Amino acid sequence: MTTTEDTSSLGTGPFRAVQKGVPSERRGITPPAITPPAQARPGHRAETRETAGPGVETARARALDVLRANDGGGFTRPSARLYPHQWLWDSCFVAIGLRHVDVERAAGEVLSLFVGQWPSGMLPHIRFCPAIGEPYHADPGLWGVRDAVEAPPVVETSGVTQPPLVAEAVARVGAAMPARRRLAFYRRVLPGLVAYHEWLYRERDPENTGLVSVVHPWESGMDDTPPWSDAVRDLAPAKVRAVRDAGDLDVLEGLRRDNKAVPAQERIAADELFTLYELTGRLRAVRYRFDELRAAGLPSIRDVGFNAVLVRANRQLETVAADAGLELPTGLLRAMRTTRDAFRNVLAGGFPRHQDARTGRLLPDETVAGFLALYAGVLPPEQAGRLAGQLFDARWTGRYGPASLPFDAPAFDPGRYWRGPVWPMVNWLLVDGLRRSGRVAEARRLRDETVELVVRSGRTYEYYSPVDGGGHGAPDFAPTAAVFLDMIYAE
Ligand code: DGY
Repeated sequence: MTTTEDTSSLGTGPFRAVQKGVPSERRGITPPAITPPAQARPGHRAETRETAGPGVETARARALDVLRANDGGGFTRPSARLYPHQWLWDSCFVAIGLRHVDVERAAGEVLSLFVGQWPSGMLPHIRFCPAIGEPYHADPGLWGVRDAVEAPPVVETSGVTQPPLVAEAVARVGAAMPARRRLAFYRRVLPGLVAYHEWLYRERDPENTGLVSVVHPWESGMDDTPPWSDAVRDLAPAKVRAVRDAGDLDVLEGLRRDNKAVPAQERIAADELFTLYELTGRLRAVRYRFDELRAAGLPSIRDVGFNAVLVRANRQLETVAADAGLELPTGLLRAMRTTRDAFRNVLAGGFPRHQDARTGRLLPDETVAGFLALYAGVLPPEQAGRLAGQLFDARWTGRYGPASLPFDAPAFDPGRYWRGPVWPMVNWLLVDGLRRSGRVAEARRLRDETVELVVRSGRTYEYYSPVDGGGHGAPDFAPTAAVFLDMIYAE
């Protein structure tokens, strides 16, 4: 199962038609017609009693519009202005929502991710699309992948990955397909998917602890979460330290390029952003190799959210392989078991937290990532119950599901990225985890609150204030649109 062969086997996939520098209309790619679910899936009950009504209808139509408008030619941009390329876990959420309205387009969304796969098996967190003219702050020049990596991917990508939600997306999309079509889809996607999981273990858990490490906060999916801000603080370039010490961050604000579509106070702080660019440069210098970055003393963290997603993805990978009649490699199966066993102890230190892979120390901050242990689905029932209780405690949850930091955290900020806001994507993972742990009433409550949040807002924002439900970040955010659709269709 070599990855090079895998990506080339996508010859008829949606991405193969993309030619560099040619706008989609000139390549003859028509944006997918997203058909209403009633037509796409005859007999499917599209909505529940509680979610029927003009508010939900309008929100549904808007969510579909967002997915249409963000189409980049066979894949979906999370946001046409702020995130104008393809992101790994964002596309997985998009596929999960799209399957209800156009299952083939959803399958294409997943397959298109593998075009950016590295020959090593790594799936990068961004797959750049050269045909898209919109400027992006962390562009291919920052990552320098072509020069840094001995066997680079066939297209421009970033050099790090993102939570491994692909197997979940594959299983969900497959489940919405007729049996024969599902088999073909699974067989097509499995080589690349297996190569990715093997890469995660080979590269990011060489000591077979069962828990894989992440090396950049952008891999965690929770970019400015406090544990990561602490982990990278010492990497701040001298100029950044100087302005930070002088309390003069406005100097940096003028230099950043990610604050044109969204107010800077809703994004990561400027000194942290420039520190992340520095970290990216250091990773590039060690050719994105885990052994070398560890030797260079760069941070590596066993991220509890990332590993929770991996536990569930492993389970879904097993299901998909079994459905396709294929056996997973023995070494991978062994590693997957080790992960499941290691993750069962995640509550041993109290609330589930990240671990510094260099020292073994648990990091002090509690963040919403800890609740993703519920999504992993392997906690003993008593522990799952305890964690679910904390989730709905007033320390975390107001009216719309858990804040990304507890309300009493010193860094809490209701409108800034991962420093407080509620994220519908996270709520989707939690609803699913609660359901699978038999906590149906809590799952229902969180799902209803998330639907209400989006309906009331009138737009699918990237994140929302846990205090008043106000929308923040990118306004027409595709993953929010997609999980909203999934929540109203998947009943
Ligand atoms: C950004 O541009 O801030 C992204 O989150 C990086 O993945």
